[in-house]
Amino acid sequence: MKKIFAANWKMNKTPDESKAFVENFKVKIDQDFFKTRDIFIFPQNFSLAVTLSQCAQTPIRIGPQNIGPENSGAFTGENSLAVAKAMGSTTVLIGHSERRILNGETNEMIAKKMKLALQQSLLPVLCIGESLKERESRESNRVCSEQLEQALAGINAETEFIVAYEPVWAIGTGRVATADQVRQMHEHIFSTLSGRGFKNFKILYGGSVKSDNAKELIQIPHVDGFLIGGAALEVSSFLDICNSIK
Ligand code: PGA
Repeated sequence: MKKIFAANWKMNKTPDESKAFVENFKVKIDQDFFKTRDIFIFPQNFSLAVTLSQCAQTPIRIGPQNIGPENSGAFTGENSLAVAKAMGSTTVLIGHSERRILNGETNEMIAKKMKLALQQSLLPVLCIGESLKERESRESNRVCSEQLEQALAGINAETEFIVAYEPVWAIGTGRVATADQVRQMHEHIFSTLSGRGFKNFKILYGGSVKSDNAKELIQIPHVDGFLIGGAALEVSSFLDICNSIK
C-alpha cells in the first residue's frame, strides 16, 4: 500500500517560493516515485493557485490548510472551500491544532467543516491530538476518541478520509513522540474507527517528523504516512522523509 507524505507549509512561502519548491521537487524524483507514495501539499492560501498550476500534470494533491464555515456568504476574511475546489484543490486540512488553539476551533466547528469538505468531494485530512497536560493526566485516548467521534458524527461508514494524529506537544517542538507512543495511539485510532464501521481511512503521524526519525516511525503498524511541517519547507528534507520507504 502507498504511503502518504503530506507537507503542511503553514504560514510560509510566497508564490515564487512555492513555485520554486515544486519545480525543484519535480526534477529530483523519478517516474517510479509515485508508485509507492502519495504526496499532498497544503500551501497557504495566497500560494494555492501557483502551487496548483505547478502540480497540474502530477498526481500531487493540493488543498487549503483551513476553510470557512460555509461555501459562500458574509464571512469577511474567511476562505471558501467551494472556491478552493473550483481552483482545482482535491484535499483540505481540517482541525489542525494551531487552529484549535489559536483560533478557538471547536469539535463542533470541525464537524461542520468535515461535512462541507465531503459534500464537495474533497478528501479531508482531519487533525487530532492531545495536549501535554492531557497526556500527562493519561487522557490521550479519551481526548482523541472524542475529537474523532465529534468530527465524524453522522458521516457514512463508506466515506474516505484521512486522520492525522498530531500530539500537540510534538508539533514544532523537536520533541517527537516515541515509537511506543505512536504505536499505541495509532492502534487506538484504528480500532476506534474500525469499531464504528469505517473502512476507507488512513492514519498519518505528525509532530517533528524528520528524516532521522521517519524510518523507524513509518514501520509502525497503522502509520500510513506523515503530516510534516518544518521539515517539509525544504525540498531536500522533505524528500529525505519521502525516502524513508524504498
Ligand atoms: P512539525 O509540524 O513537523 O513542524 O512539527 C507538523 C504539523 O503541524 O502539521
